[in-house]
Amino acid sequence: MTDKKRQLALAVFLTRHGHHPGAWRQPNSANTGKPDFRYWADLVRTAERGKLDAAFFADFVGQSGDSTKGIARRHAFLDFEPLTATAALASITSHIGLVATVNTNFEQPYALARRFASLDHISGGRIGWNIVSSLEGGAAKSFGVDQPPSHAERYARAHEYLAVVKALWDSWDDDAFEDADRETGVYRKADAVHPVHHDGEYFHLDSVLDMPRPIQGYPVFAQAGNSEVGRDFAARHAEMIYAAAQFIEDAQAFYADVKARVVAHGRAPDTLKVMPGLSFTIARSLQEAQDKFGELEEAVDFSGDLNLMGQDVSAYPLDGPLPDLPEPENGKGRWKQLTALAKRENLTIRQLFLRFNAVRGHRVVLGTPVDIADQIQDWFERGAADGFNLIPPLLPSSLEDFVDLVVPELQRRGIFRTEYEGTTLRQHLNLPRPFNPNSKSAAPEKPTLETAA
Ligand SMILES: Cc1cc2nc3c(=O)[nH]c(=O)nc-3n(C[C@H](O)[C@H](O)[C@H](O)COP(=O)(O)O)c2cc1C
Repeated sequence: MTDKKRQLALAVFLTRHGHHPGAWRQPNSANTGKPDFRYWADLVRTAERGKLDAAFFADFVGQSGDSTKGIARRHAFLDFEPLTATAALASITSHIGLVATVNTNFEQPYALARRFASLDHISGGRIGWNIVSSLEGGAAKSFGVDQPPSHAERYARAHEYLAVVKALWDSWDDDAFEDADRETGVYRKADAVHPVHHDGEYFHLDSVLDMPRPIQGYPVFAQAGNSEVGRDFAARHAEMIYAAAQFIEDAQAFYADVKARVVAHGRAPDTLKVMPGLSFTIARSLQEAQDKFGELEEAVDFSGDLNLMGQDVSAYPLDGPLPDLPEPENGKGRWKQLTALAKRENLTIRQLFLRFNAVRGHRVVLGTPVDIADQIQDWFERGAADGFNLIPPLLPSSLEDFVDLVVPELQRRGIFRTEYEGTTLRQHLNLPRPFNPNSKSAAPEKPTLETAA
């Protein structure tokens, strides 16, 4: 045990313009829909300058075919395929973790296990996987899924997917290629390979991964489940869980719930970092920050179709209450949060859109760097968060403000690193390196950071 203070984990959720729907129309945002790798490279370098644990890349497929009337006026979530971008970003950075989203509904586990293993070696052990199993209509059609499986079935498939990719990563001992000997002509240890024979409900394979075991053993697993089955999946597999909560009581309840589930699965509670989203606007005074955020809100376009967390509400008056609507198949947890907020504060559809949708249900903090650091520290110390998934409303400026003004304040308080101490994402997050169960050496009783690569 060291007497070092518990450290915050900080990831940043990067999007092209920033998360606020009013962002793309601001003069200082990237207002073009054309992909621009240099812009992404600058964002990730800024995050690394701030010593953040990771940059996070979401992925939502199958939305481009939407031709409803409002769509041409909305910024789109179209950008680089995350694994491709991550490979390029790994080569221009040295420490920051890179977390890429990949959906378990579409791809065979072998192909993905190989790509993640490659990325982990390319990046020197800095890769994370945000495991999603959502299936929107457009995504199903893009991949020729005619009969979309239910929510429960998608999670069942994801469980089996995880078992298969882990077995593939474990199909080589960590030291399989360490003793190549020119003299004797032995290239690798003969008994270091452990073929996978899997005959399951969703996948069938006999295979050995065409790539040595990842530097981190497995990529760091991130997940964002909110439903019962989603939280349980996270408790079994995830090491970071992204959450969305606007009020501390909700965040504390979520934190206590998922930590209890982690323990029930036989894991140490700190092997899953709970990371609620945090939208922030920083200025010299609260008033100035409110004015800055207000500029984003004024730029939101309410013409055309209006969608509240996946539900079309265009048929109802914008300045009237939210009617009773059936719970959606995707995003049940967030729908519950949204309807609770509508009731609690008696909000109109327009107000709900600005309060919830515009920040996708995440906590919003406005103020000076000290105010923002106070609010971060408050949740961190009161059982609501192990860290935050930063949701910059406007890019690149919100991230630059955070790195230049809030990070130094957190460092002064001793709750955030001043330098990277390790080189892998697991080391940044103080997560154990997964032991290879096929390995002939005995499993460490309690894996520690020292066992990490
Ligand atoms: C911060 C955050 C990021 C997310 N990123 C993605 C994403 O990139 N792709 C995706 O399909 N779903 C994404 N989701 C949705 C979740 O994967 C999940 O489907 C959702 O939270 C609903 O939980 P449930 O599946 O347990 O009902 C994200 C959720 C959150 C809170």
